[in-house]
Amino acid sequence: MRLLAAYPELAAHLPWLPLGTFPTPVEPVIDLGEALGCQLWIKRDDRSGPLYGGNKVRLLEFLLAEAQRRQSQTLLLAGSLGSNFVLATAIYAQTLRPPPAVRAVLFPRPFSPDLPRKLALCQHFGAQLHLVPALALLPPALLWHWLRSPRPLLLPPGGAAPLPCLGYVDAALELAQQVALGQLPEPHYLFVPLGSGGTAAGLLAGLRLSGLHTHVVAVRISSGLIANAARVARLANQTLALLAHYIPRLAVKPLTPHNLIVLPQFLGKGYGAPTPEAQTALALAKERGHLELDSTYTAKTLAGLAWYVQRHQLQEHPILFWHTLNTVPLPQVTPLPSTVERFLARHRPGAGQALSERSMSERAAGARVWTANEGPWPVAGPTLPRAAGAAELPAHLPWPGPALDS
Ligand SMILES: Cc1ncc(COP(=O)(O)O)c(C=O)c1O
Repeated sequence: MRLLAAYPELAAHLPWLPLGTFPTPVEPVIDLGEALGCQLWIKRDDRSGPLYGGNKVRLLEFLLAEAQRRQSQTLLLAGSLGSNFVLATAIYAQTLRPPPAVRAVLFPRPFSPDLPRKLALCQHFGAQLHLVPALALLPPALLWHWLRSPRPLLLPPGGAAPLPCLGYVDAALELAQQVALGQLPEPHYLFVPLGSGGTAAGLLAGLRLSGLHTHVVAVRISSGLIANAARVARLANQTLALLAHYIPRLAVKPLTPHNLIVLPQFLGKGYGAPTPEAQTALALAKERGHLELDSTYTAKTLAGLAWYVQRHQLQEHPILFWHTLNTVPLPQVTPLPSTVERFLARHRPGAGQALSERSMSERAAGARVWTANEGPWPVAGPTLPRAAGAAELPAHLPWPGPALDS
């Protein structure tokens, strides 16, 4: 890990586990770049780990190490139905010894064809899924599960907290080294999806440390209440403060919301809602770049990139597309547990449309937590290879604590 190599004093303080395969390659995507009218490069975080790739692996290297340090027996997560963060956590939690239980409280999102498979994969890897019919029911459901779980650790939604963001600080240092080695020119702009914000915040903080002048352009893929520049800048500053807490010689100028360019207009009707621009970008990426994108995160990001490049005439500037979606093949999975199937059937209005407000409020009126793991499926997933040895962990790291909140 570059961060620990650059600042060896961190190793004594920060929990970290090697889960992924780094550095991830950078590659030119010439044909797709020609189609979009720019010099396009791709950062292959889609292959960031041997078991599962995508952007959550770098965050989990810190989160799961912290869980191990605390001897947590249950990892409690909140996410949307089909959350990649839940799936990545379920997969990599199996590599801990002993593996903690993974309990996820999931809230509805617009139906997409990959949802049933994602849920089945979560179940296959041993996650216990608890479905609530509306976002508003998340806090009480989490509290309910917190009180009933042995040694629980509540993970930050999407992994967006200062400690896991260090994974993306490290990613920015990794990029700087690839630039120094001549593997790609210094990108003028770097495009990344903006959801819970941990990825963009870590990159922003890391770029400041790295000395690169790359601008981060974050394409909003979820509500602006969460996915906004002020929140990302605050999280980036908290991440830098966490580093400065252990490295007093670190002197970096704080970030402001102006350091991040947010493109809000590619979200469409909301998180997970399909948009025509994303469908076009998805097809173009497949045809001209042989890239596998998804309609929720990465295709919206490529659509934003295409628009920005045209709008600002960036033909001559190196542009980096940060691929955040897993493309590591996953196993064929058994059918869904019947309760999840029932839930999906109820929430599939007119096949493929967003949940209606009415359906959500009707469900909320019931105020019942559907427990998906009532079904007859294996409680524990298969045993996966163990991660290489954990770093020596400090006796005490506040989470969330003064150093993380300052
Ligand atoms: C594939 C993919 N890309 C991007 C994101 C957004 O990352 P972040 O939540 O760190 O903003 C997510 C979040 O779940 C994701 O699953």
